[in-house]
Parts: sequence; C-alpha cells; structure tokens
Amino acid sequence: MIAITGATGQLGRLVVEKLKDKGPASDIVALVRSTTKAADLGVASRQTDYDRPETLGPALEGVNTLLLISSSEVGKRAAQHRAVIEAAKKAGVKRVVYTSLLHADTTPLSLADEHRQTEAELKASGIPYTILRNGWYTENYTASIPGALAGGAFVGSAGEGRISSATRADFADAAVAVLTTEGHEGQTYELAGDEAWTLSDLAAEVSRQTGREIPYRDLPEAEYADALKGFGMPEGFARMIAGWDVGASQGALFDDSRQLSKLTGRPTTPLSAAVADALKPAPQAGA
Ligand SMILES: NC(=O)c1ccc[n+]([C@@H]2O[C@H](COP(=O)([O-])OP(=O)(O)OC[C@H]3O[C@@H](n4cnc5c(N)ncnc54)[C@H](OP(=O)(O)O)[C@@H]3O)[C@@H](O)[C@H]2O)c1
Repeated sequence: MIAITGATGQLGRLVVEKLKDKGPASDIVALVRSTTKAADLGVASRQTDYDRPETLGPALEGVNTLLLISSSEVGKRAAQHRAVIEAAKKAGVKRVVYTSLLHADTTPLSLADEHRQTEAELKASGIPYTILRNGWYTENYTASIPGALAGGAFVGSAGEGRISSATRADFADAAVAVLTTEGHEGQTYELAGDEAWTLSDLAAEVSRQTGREIPYRDLPEAEYADALKGFGMPEGFARMIAGWDVGASQGALFDDSRQLSKLTGRPTTPLSAAVADALKPAPQAGA
C-alpha cells in the first residue's frame, strides 16, 4: 500500500490523482488532517496530524511505501517530519519518499535547514529512502500575474537569477514515477524544470500573451519586502519571500540536470504554457 501525507494539499491531490491512473485505488491511502476534506479524493483516507503523534501509528499501519510531503508549517516542520519518520520506523514502513528542497545541502535559502534535518534523520532511521529535492513551483510565479496586471509591473529582488521552475503537476509525475517503479532506493534527485528563465523573461512572456507592456522592476530586498507587506502579506512572510528572491538572484533556484524530465519521461511544462494556463478565464460556477 502507498500512503501520501498532505494528500489534501495542492501537490498531494495531484499525486493521488496520478497514482490512481497507475494502479488500483484500493492500494492508495491518503493521510490527511481532515478526512472530510479528503472525501472527494476517491481513495481511503486516515486521519493524520503531524502534531498529534497518537494519530501517526494507526495511520501508517500496513503501509509499504510512504510519500512524506513536507509540511507547510515552516518552523515546526523538522519536529513534525521527525515524528512521522519515527512512526514509520515503528510501523515497519518499507520505504519513505520525502519532498525536500532543490540543492538542500548547499542552497543559501533559509528554508533549507528543516529539510537538511529531515534528510539526515531519514537517512539515520535505517528505512530505505528516496529524496525528491523539489525546485520552485512555476505556480509561485504565475499566481502573481493578476497582481502584476493590476499594478502594471512585476516586482521582485531576483535580478537576472535564472529559475528552473516546474509545475506541481511535473513534480507530482516525478513522485509517482518514484513511488511506482523500482531502483530509487538511496537516491537523492535534484528536481527542476528543463527551462530556466528570469523574472524579466516572465514579464516578457506575460506581455506577449496579453498584448500589454508589463515590465519587471527589480527592487532592493527591503523595498520588495515592504511592497509585499503593502499587498497585505504579514511582515515575517514578506521578509522571507524577499530573502528567497535574493537567493534566486544568486542562482539558488537554477538547475540544469534535467533529472525531473528523466524520471517522468517527458519534458517539463514550459513557462509559456504555465502562463497561458494562468491567463485562462476561471470556469463559471456550474459549468
Ligand atoms: N517547491 C515549492 O515551490 C513549494 C512552495 C510551497 C510549499 N512547498 C512545500 O511543498 C509542500 C507541498 O506543497 P503544496 O503546494 O501541496 O502545499 P499545500 O497545498 O500548502 O499543502 C500542504 C499540506 O500539508 C498538510 N499539513 C500541514 N500541516 C500539517 C499537519 N500538522 N499534519 C498533517 N498535515 C499537515 C496540509 O494539510 P491540510 O490540507 O489539512 O491543510 C496540506 O495538505 C508544502 O507543504 C511545502 O513544504 C514547496
């Protein structure tokens, strides 16, 4: 049986959907905080809260392969992941696949500490493992298109840093390949898009597709953090995002190993396609 944590999250939902195409739904179990939220997944679900260790043992019973999708609770994640790894060991899980961060061992991004800790603890646990070091989602950027169109420009601090992003669907396909095929034990994959682009390239692509002139305006880190705060983002998060952009300007989000497309057997989604998708009108309710 394959179990997926964070299965009601954006990446987890895609993984469940794609796993169902590969084998019987009865072999899949969604490990979720809310089984009500999981009702539409079409697979069994088990209540699983990283912060409630008593839920973890029962959730992992009979699980062979676990996809541990990293938690979204930055700052609490190392402890949360440790609890899952300990429970997986006790439950006799045969393999843990963990979603980490691109170049987690060398990246300057502040997010990496918790991923490094989890990677080390997973390795020390003795459970066979595979580490998926995921790069940035293209959707992190396409989500800012409406704001850029409203404000007349993209803003950021990533300079001319090249970003090898891929879509969540690309990362989900890689996870499914690793979960359903042999030969991945002990492997650490650096997963990123085939194409690398800068925020100026993103602005140019949006300009091309909308027929409007939307430039990219590069800002000093503090100014960008202030701009994000001005858009309503909490200060701490705004500072973190601005800091990651500076990391991007130094190449932290660049990777040209193409390990993602090698795993999936298809090219990653081009930026132009992700932008076109983001610009599609939202479907009407009931349509
Ligand atoms: N590569 C990137 O660009 C990027 C960007 C953002 C995040 N990430 C990382 O990748 C992960 C997956 O991305 P995503 O887009 O799917 O994020 P997401 O939509 O925010 O999903 C996060 C999932 O984690 C679950 N979760 C959070 N706290 C939990 C807890 N205490 N116990 C059990 N489950 C808990 C959430 O459960 P609920 O459904 O109940 O809320 C949710 O299903 C994120 O959690 C984060 O670690 C990567």
